[in-house]
Amino acid sequence: MSRAQRKPKRSARDVSVGGWIAYWNGRLVPDEEIHISPWDRGFVLGDAAYEVTRTYRHVPFHLDWHLDRLLSSLQYLQIDPPLTKEQLTDLTLTVLARNIPRLGSQDDVSITHRITRGVFAGLFAGRPTTPPTVLIICRPVTSAQFATFYQSGIELKTPSLRLPAAGGIEPRAKTQSRLHHVLGDVEMWPSGRDVLPLFADVEGYVTESVASNVFFVKGNRLLTPPDHAVLGGVTRRLLLQLAEEIHLEVLRRPVHLAELQGIDEAFITGTSFAILPVRRINSRDLQPVPGPVTSALTAAFGRHAGVDIVERSRTPA
Ligand SMILES: Cc1ncc(COP(=O)(O)O)c(C=O)c1O
Repeated sequence: MSRAQRKPKRSARDVSVGGWIAYWNGRLVPDEEIHISPWDRGFVLGDAAYEVTRTYRHVPFHLDWHLDRLLSSLQYLQIDPPLTKEQLTDLTLTVLARNIPRLGSQDDVSITHRITRGVFAGLFAGRPTTPPTVLIICRPVTSAQFATFYQSGIELKTPSLRLPAAGGIEPRAKTQSRLHHVLGDVEMWPSGRDVLPLFADVEGYVTESVASNVFFVKGNRLLTPPDHAVLGGVTRRLLLQLAEEIHLEVLRRPVHLAELQGIDEAFITGTSFAILPVRRINSRDLQPVPGPVTSALTAAFGRHAGVDIVERSRTPA
């Protein structure tokens, strides 16, 4: 067989191979056929809401919670949702079903919903006259990229950029313009891939990290910043339930940077990786990694999702 005839086995890891089927403004198309106007307000201004849901064993994980959050983010932005929750659910499952044939049994995907306000109508032109732009796209989630982080943990460092203590953009909305998160992340890049920003407000109260919520363990208590100060992460919401199930005392209250000197464990939560232990926080080492509470919650998460996430990250696809 010549090289041209040999059909490469498609792996979910191979993002470069096109042909992932997406929903784009009413059509199902290969994602390389999506054309976004250079005047789309999502592109020009970050004027959009989005969600990232992942699958476990090809089933979307808590899609219902993600779509509720998408609709409340749109409401905050005053973008009229162009589709109902039922329609979004059906379309998401359709997009997923169209992409499943290219996945191996060990592969999973992230499904991104992105809804922008539509095309920029010009300066002082007021409301766009076009409908919102709607995208639902799939990408592989490669658990292997997190394998060393599950085992050795990540480092959190507070960047120089601080957030307003109150009165800024609503942190509970998952909006597209996240420049303060991007800048905090960029500040960490020279320190290595395993160093993430730990954001704090101008008064020194911790908020979250990039694309993740933060938790701290102090004695037998689990601490996390209060609901009003952070994005209501789907993983955070689940972890808070699981923590109660394993009889941890949970406190959702302001956590000052100074208080981090007295913590025993820390971890972050986010859709793609679920839970990652923290080995160092603002120059203070935390041992062991992962700590016992982090391990217990990781195991509880695995039971809930039906997948041992740490083991899966070590298993070649
Ligand atoms: C700012 C922020 N906090 C927390 C999270 C974690 O949320 P989830 O668990 O729903 O992925 C995200 C996810 O992107 C985020 O952007």
